[in-house]
Amino acid sequence: MSTAVLFDQYGEPGVLYPAEVPDPVAGPGQVVVRYTAIGVNPVDWKILSGAVREYVPMELPGGCLGVEAAGEVVEVGAGVRRFRVGDHVIRHGRPGAFREYEAVAASQEADELTLRPDRFSDEQAAVLPVAVGTAYSALRRVGLGPGERLLVHGASGGVGLAVVQLARLLGAGEVVGTASAARHGLVRAVGATPVAYGEGLSERLAEHGPFHASIDCAGGPESTGAAVRLVAGAARRVTIVPDPAAGARGIPLLEHLPLELASTLDLMGTAPFELPVVARYPLERAGEALAHSRRGGVGGKIVLVPGG
Ligand SMILES: NC(=O)c1ccc[n+]([C@@H]2O[C@H](COP(=O)([O-])OP(=O)(O)OC[C@H]3O[C@@H](n4cnc5c(N)ncnc54)[C@H](OP(=O)(O)O)[C@@H]3O)[C@@H](O)[C@H]2O)c1
Repeated sequence: MSTAVLFDQYGEPGVLYPAEVPDPVAGPGQVVVRYTAIGVNPVDWKILSGAVREYVPMELPGGCLGVEAAGEVVEVGAGVRRFRVGDHVIRHGRPGAFREYEAVAASQEADELTLRPDRFSDEQAAVLPVAVGTAYSALRRVGLGPGERLLVHGASGGVGLAVVQLARLLGAGEVVGTASAARHGLVRAVGATPVAYGEGLSERLAEHGPFHASIDCAGGPESTGAAVRLVAGAARRVTIVPDPAAGARGIPLLEHLPLELASTLDLMGTAPFELPVVARYPLERAGEALAHSRRGGVGGKIVLVPGG
């Protein structure tokens, strides 16, 4: 038996509970992974709240959150050639990773497992998929080219920090990122010019604009207004926060590209890249970790540690 954190009805982070579940067995085309680090994302508490049940339906009772994790392959099922016992892998995609062990589809087409590059620790690898995958798709969506100027709303968040760093790898010109004053040092350290969000945002940003493209990782009328004013053409703007008002003003919601994690790792190669992990919780205390993420002002990524 091993531990999984489950929930039986939609609600607040407090409805999560640790449960003893049977150890999974690798079926044909699957491997069993023992997780050593699990990433926490806003989507976890959004799914838990029931707000996105139309797009991400959960089977209840016994639902399990968690869309990214890293660990070691401990069993390989029939027909699997891509992975061997002892490989370190990154798991990404559908919810279900808030657990110690999981049986995961191993094929490339399933796009749920990627070999972990040696340069990343399991902890670093566990927080890559959502942040860098989303950042990669967003940068491709707005077609950012070398020397171009980029506006990033929410640059101090997990996705925003990845957008800034990948934009630099793509040869962007100046990247301007909005963040709270407390996070300006962080935004500057990854290579962007920080600008405080809040009243008067559009005017403050206009001093740095216009921009060739914008990626909104924060959402809301202030960010939308600034992007519409300072970036010409809907094709060069995208948001990752669902908002019909933004869509109506020419800022479409991001559509993810297939195999985005693998593509991003290719793009990164051995270039410097880091997402700061600023909080760690034992797996059993996943509810506290989700509450932390929901409160905001995290300044990096949160991970769950099985057996921690
Ligand atoms: N559509 C998709 O595929 C997709 C994928 C990933 C994430 N998302 C969504 O995108 C959002 C960001 O995700 P994340 O993982 O980066 O979250 P996160 O790590 O919690 O970061 C959120 C960031 O937003 C910033 N922020 C808050 N209010 C702001 C404002 N008014 N203007 C500018 N920035 C503001 C915060 O900055 P300070 O800390 O400096 O206050 C924080 O750094 C979440 O809503 C998430 O659900 C969507």
